[in-house]
Amino acid sequence: MFNILVPDNLNQAGLDMLAKIKEFEIYAPGKMSREDTLAAAPKAHAMIIRSDTTVDRELLEHAPHLKVVVRAGVGVDNIDLAACTEHGVVAMNTPDANTISTAEHAIALMLALARQIPQADASMRAGRWDRKQFMGMELYGKTLGLIGFGRVGRAVAERAQCFGLMEIAYDPFVPDEVARHLGLSLVPRVEQLLEQADILSLHAVVNDATRELINAETIAHMKDGVLIVNAARGKLINNADLAAALKSGKVGGAALDVYDVEPPDADNPLLGLPNVIYTPHLGASTQEAQDAVGTQAADAVSNALIKDRYDNVRNRDVFNVLGQS
Ligand code: MLT
Repeated sequence: MFNILVPDNLNQAGLDMLAKIKEFEIYAPGKMSREDTLAAAPKAHAMIIRSDTTVDRELLEHAPHLKVVVRAGVGVDNIDLAACTEHGVVAMNTPDANTISTAEHAIALMLALARQIPQADASMRAGRWDRKQFMGMELYGKTLGLIGFGRVGRAVAERAQCFGLMEIAYDPFVPDEVARHLGLSLVPRVEQLLEQADILSLHAVVNDATRELINAETIAHMKDGVLIVNAARGKLINNADLAAALKSGKVGGAALDVYDVEPPDADNPLLGLPNVIYTPHLGASTQEAQDAVGTQAADAVSNALIKDRYDNVRNRDVFNVLGQS
């Protein structure tokens, strides 16, 4: 018998799949506190988490039987992969499940930003009829710069083409053919992209090279009035630098779905700015994406524990450790 601990809210389709597997005992009471998660960890053979649970050394030390941790979603920034490897725990994610939803959300933010839709909506709700205040910008003929050209960046590129946007992308890990196949070009230096883009959309993972990539120095390379969409990770942005650029008008507007800390700290300087629109990390929040995320995470756990099959492993070096033990 394997004990499966689900300390975050996982959708019902995934839970139903897990419940059908006779070798599994499921503990999924809904979103669990850190204390409750630590208390339940000693029995767990597998964990399925979303973004609310952090898998760090402390949690791993409480979980001596843990074999796999599956991130139901894409970002594994809440998993200490090196610590998982040391503990012989295979860390996996479900990278395909929410690509389309996240890409659609980025496009929705782009349109809402270009036409100030949330601000216009708020104005009408306040009883005003202010047609002059909300002069928008057409996407047609503008240049969209995609920073990060993985699954979501590519899905955004495909969708953005129908608006007549010209597109360029920066991603040092993607071969030119991939971009050419989608009819756009990759630039070798991020500055080249910043200098050309009228709209920037961020789709990179956070690592030492991309953390706070949007900062005073890179903003200085951007066109005046550029619009920035971030449906990837808040840590790609230096909050103070972007806030200053939004206040000065150097950056014309931003649409933010993600924040360095979530929910954002009350003193986050990006909050409350009139030329910023906000959503609370909704990229993957569609029924379709959550069904896919839940069922793919359930599949990953059953494949690993029952069939000894591991897909989408984020710490492949763990197999060296497991091979040695
Ligand atoms: C992801 O990494 O999968 C998305 O940001 C959505 C989420 O965190 O659940």
